[in-house]
Amino acid sequence: MKTPPDPHTMPATLAGLTGQGVDAIDTPALVIDLDAMERNLARMAAFARTHGVRLRPHAKMHKSAALAQLQMQAGAVGVCVQKTSEAESLAAAGVTDLYISNEVIDPAKLQRVAALARQLHAEGGHLAIAVDSLEGIARLGAAMADNTSGDDEALPLLDVFVEVDIGQGRCGVPPGEAAVVLAQAIAAHDGLRFAGLQAYHGRAQHQRGVDERRHAIAHAAQAVQRTRALIEAAGLPVPLVTGAGTGTFALETASGVWGELQAGSYLFMDADYAANVHDPAQPAFEHALFIKSQVISAGATHAVCDAGHKSHAIDSGLPVVQALPGQGAMTFANGGDEHGLLHPAEAGGELPKLGDTVWLIPGHCDPTVNLHDWLIGVRGGLAQGTVERVIRVDARGALT
Ligand SMILES: Cc1ncc(COP(=O)(O)O)c(C=O)c1O
Repeated sequence: MKTPPDPHTMPATLAGLTGQGVDAIDTPALVIDLDAMERNLARMAAFARTHGVRLRPHAKMHKSAALAQLQMQAGAVGVCVQKTSEAESLAAAGVTDLYISNEVIDPAKLQRVAALARQLHAEGGHLAIAVDSLEGIARLGAAMADNTSGDDEALPLLDVFVEVDIGQGRCGVPPGEAAVVLAQAIAAHDGLRFAGLQAYHGRAQHQRGVDERRHAIAHAAQAVQRTRALIEAAGLPVPLVTGAGTGTFALETASGVWGELQAGSYLFMDADYAANVHDPAQPAFEHALFIKSQVISAGATHAVCDAGHKSHAIDSGLPVVQALPGQGAMTFANGGDEHGLLHPAEAGGELPKLGDTVWLIPGHCDPTVNLHDWLIGVRGGLAQGTVERVIRVDARGALT
């Protein structure tokens, strides 16, 4: 029987792309405009530096060790991940400072968390995790205790953040006393260190108006501040408050309450984020992630491209067409799994021809990246650029 190819081995067709023009990229493909991405990288790094906050970008967005390393070279202290297997994939590809900004409750997974904490410590790195229950802390403590072997000194302390629900209505305990109880439980455990508060307001990120976002984060800041004061009054220092995303990070920063930013999408900037009214306190980010697609059918009323929702996620809206010079403005409509329907943006507008390339800006970058094994990095623009590097999506499908 033939062995199926390892999805992590770069296919020869991709390996041979480096140095070739964009025309050589087969479609549909996920393409990074490297120039735009590097400007986003530098703008975010400069923001964090200038405002004296730590940056720990969320790598759930790109799932790629190479991009995590770029972020760390630009000043990030490490990266966040959301899943145990994401942490394992990035660690296996050389990222050594990881924070699982999420709850893990399954004992078998917690054994893996403890093993990873030990491995990263041995490599001079670091692992942290979030909790929101006494049961979760007990299980985590037990996994860390199990993970010592005879000739071992004690395991390194695992940094544990208490997650507070500051308005998203997802994980986290309510601000206030409940967080004090968890912080004390962490501090009472050998092997665990209370590292501070996880406070991420997911719902505020895509509120369109600046005032709505400002209001949400002002409210959240008060709740976090109150929680922090209660924990400190109970005799425990709160070393760090971590959170924030691409929609609001300037607000968390200005509050003085957060010491670490977890924004992720800024690097690629999807269509949904571009629909937010821009807050002048934040740097402006450019679209850097595109789906290259090709027109495979063209009629009198519309054209059809070869990218459907197996190429891009549609949970936050359909892709937006990036018109290149010489191309008329177009809208994208859902054509199903493998097709996209293109219409002129204005009556009488021109349609692309058979074989033409159409560049799409995905509605939501995180789940779009998770549909692809490789990101093709182009230098010199989408119209005339050259493929500079092909980047592996190391944690593609790492959902456990
Ligand atoms: C816990 C957490 N932190 C940070 C982020 C990063 O947000 P964004 O990609 O919107 O910048 C997310 C995204 O969902 C998240 O879930």
